[in-house]
Amino acid sequence: MQNLKLDYSKTLNFIRKDDIFVFKNEIKRHIDALYNKTGKGSDFLGWLNLPSSISENELIDIQNTANDLKEKCEVVVVIGIGGSYLGSKAVIDALSDNFTQLKERKNPLIVFAGQNIGEDYLTELREMLSTRKWGIVVISKSGTTTEPAIAFRLLKADLEAKYEKAEAVKRIVAITDAKKGALRILSNQEGYKTFVIPDDVGGRFSILTPVGLLPIAISGFDITKLVKGSVDMEKQTGKGVDFENNPAAIYAATRNALLNKGKGIEIMANYNPKLHYFAEWWKQLYGESEGKEGKGIFPASVNFTSDLHSMGQYIQEGQRNLFETVLSITSPNKKVYITENEANLDGLNYIAGKRVNEVNKMAELGTMLAHVDGGVPNIRIEIPVLNEYYLGQLIYFYEIGCAISGYILGVNPFDQPGVEAYKKNMFALLEKPGFEEETKAHKAKL
Ligand code: PA5
Repeated sequence: MQNLKLDYSKTLNFIRKDDIFVFKNEIKRHIDALYNKTGKGSDFLGWLNLPSSISENELIDIQNTANDLKEKCEVVVVIGIGGSYLGSKAVIDALSDNFTQLKERKNPLIVFAGQNIGEDYLTELREMLSTRKWGIVVISKSGTTTEPAIAFRLLKADLEAKYEKAEAVKRIVAITDAKKGALRILSNQEGYKTFVIPDDVGGRFSILTPVGLLPIAISGFDITKLVKGSVDMEKQTGKGVDFENNPAAIYAATRNALLNKGKGIEIMANYNPKLHYFAEWWKQLYGESEGKEGKGIFPASVNFTSDLHSMGQYIQEGQRNLFETVLSITSPNKKVYITENEANLDGLNYIAGKRVNEVNKMAELGTMLAHVDGGVPNIRIEIPVLNEYYLGQLIYFYEIGCAISGYILGVNPFDQPGVEAYKKNMFALLEKPGFEEETKAHKAKL
């Protein structure tokens, strides 16, 4: 099977090849540190060999649970935030029909909750669910995160009101810590089917655990192929692989070489709207892993060509502190040809007979040339088609690339101490018991 390709040639007007290859020995040390568990955050390296260590039995258990919910439900609500929802959302959106909500479906529609605290969102969700057959997958590693806890409290009550307790229990699956946290205690009390998020896998690295795999399987996508893609990328980026042949090492080196030349913002660009949430997943992975101690490359994203008509101006001519990483798909899964038109008022007959994809590709190449000329280096990552296998490759490629890049920056890529700041303030302002001092201090500031 072909591998994803990485092309850094369009960065070479800005950095030299040596600026990339200077990281070769350092990256070898970082990969050794990852495999030997001697680097920062070494308690959170469970994701490193996850693809090759997932057993067939685990995959069968996940698939059987998915099949059970598929039989019972038209809609499954996945409750979770951050790493507990972005991975499955990214893969499901990438693989789904753009208009899946309006078309006849074989598999339940996955909708998300607990990823925001919007009252309108929750109300509209509950209204929609009241007329559907539905179930819940609730995901929280800590089991104490406020947003999913609020959503679960409300939706659990709705489900029990609709189906009676015993049937509601069969429609709820919980994915959480093996032993700790409120969700684990509740699941044991109520008798929910549960899956475990391993202790050594952080939320944003959990897509290849049941956190990502169960919702993806419920949507009808092939988790075996997804895992196979990630296994192949694990081999391609592992300990004994030369720097030159390791795309994740080259990616980490190139983005850090660009950072050293003042390019502190990386924009992931795609030319397929199905990849919008893949970029959101990537933003969390890189933002939460690298953005600490005053360091890190700021991850941003655009959907082209849509955003060429909004953000295109800034990228072309704004501050020159950007670089772009284009996520490119060689062939779409469907074909559309541009038709001839006698009046030709729109002047498009010169491209009649061509595929729409050819226009998209020329937009991609034209944009790359324009942005490079305008001072924005481009990295290009290409996969042949958008399917489970290549998404599996991309996921693992970005995960290990992130770990290496974080080590180059000198940070612990596996913690997220900064996420606690807003939580403490929110608890204080909500007058949570135990936060009395902070409540007084914050209220005085407002
Ligand atoms: O990457 C992370 O660890 C975070 O984004 C978490 O996934 C997020 O905060 C949700 O946490 P939990 O699954 O504990 O509810």
